[in-house]
Amino acid sequence: MRAITYRGTGGPDVLSLTERELDEPAAGQVRVRVAVSGVNPTDWKRRRTGGLSGDGGSEVTVPNQDGAGVVDAVGPGVSEFSVGDRVWLILAAYHAPTSGTAQEYTVLPVEKVIALPDGVGFDEGAALGIPALTAHRALTVAEDGPTRLGPGALAGRTILVTGGAGAVGNATIQLARWAGATVLTSVSTDDKAELARRAGAHYVLRYTSDDFVADVRKIAPDGLDLIVEVAAGTNAALHPQLLRTRGTVAVYGDDRGTGTIALEFGPNLWLNSRYQFLVLYTVGTDKLRAGAEDVNAALKDGSLAIGPERGLPLHRYPLADTAEAHRASENGAVGKVLIDVHP
Ligand SMILES: NC(=O)c1ccc[n+]([C@@H]2O[C@H](COP(=O)([O-])OP(=O)(O)OC[C@H]3O[C@@H](n4cnc5c(N)ncnc54)[C@H](OP(=O)(O)O)[C@@H]3O)[C@@H](O)[C@H]2O)c1
Repeated sequence: MRAITYRGTGGPDVLSLTERELDEPAAGQVRVRVAVSGVNPTDWKRRRTGGLSGDGGSEVTVPNQDGAGVVDAVGPGVSEFSVGDRVWLILAAYHAPTSGTAQEYTVLPVEKVIALPDGVGFDEGAALGIPALTAHRALTVAEDGPTRLGPGALAGRTILVTGGAGAVGNATIQLARWAGATVLTSVSTDDKAELARRAGAHYVLRYTSDDFVADVRKIAPDGLDLIVEVAAGTNAALHPQLLRTRGTVAVYGDDRGTGTIALEFGPNLWLNSRYQFLVLYTVGTDKLRAGAEDVNAALKDGSLAIGPERGLPLHRYPLADTAEAHRASENGAVGKVLIDVHP
């Protein structure tokens, strides 16, 4: 079968189209014929640095965590899925360097496989794994907030989603709207403002404006219940000016940051503010499964979708051009980068 592989670490040029043996699923595993593979920043960061799973040596790696396709074989003892089931995948390559989705077939434990609801396409399945589950976690970590999402779960809450034109930002806006929150978002340009509006944000603000704090306070005079943060280092000084007492900051990114976040002691102390860091890799299987159930519910009722009309333009590449797809993501493509594996 055709697969994109790399050894060691490096830029997009280390990715090459190769032939790999078809693996058979062992007990508790299924094999999935991949239709679409989704690219996220984590995929090229892992390729550049070796990432969490220690696959940065000479071991062969198949990139990309997200994907969707059809179950093609099941291993012994698997009762959850049958051949022909349509599925989407969670963290496919985590602790499994050759199970990435940039290949025609991948073998995964059933814990990483989620049924794709009827009527939901493979593009959605491949686009929503990391972004939507990150969004779900971010929206369920507030001190007095819900741990599950559904209509009404966030009613009465006012939430700022930083970076509303980003892939995670887009999913966060859509899920927060579905759950009944009042949603503010911050963007840098007119084009991104339009995308954030299409995602469903009630208020779209410029984070580049000198009036940003005042603009938020006009909408939320008592402060925000939750900030979902993509640029923690850059924005940390703003948080105490924006949060309500006992408000929460869910930190999933430090975009354009230095890797160090400076927090003001006094203002955060007096607010009883809560910082919750999150990374999907170690969030725990129970949280991932719960998030996937809620994401499927949002997909089913049409409250979570992709495409330009929902604020998430698509950028498609054939499998052979995976290096170009990675390059696009790395260069800040606005929207979602997808790879057609079995078009
Ligand atoms: N912790 C996790 O589990 C997890 C999961 C998914 C993603 N991430 C990380 O989160 C980051 C975003 O991922 P993504 O897929 O959403 O990327 P993306 O689609 O490239 O979006 C990033 C967005 O962040 C915005 N941004 C950057 N600095 C900002 C600031 N100071 N204030 C407001 N917005 C700002 C950008 O907008 P402008 O260009 O307009 O500034 C852009 O729209 C990446 O670093 C990724 O690795 C972490």
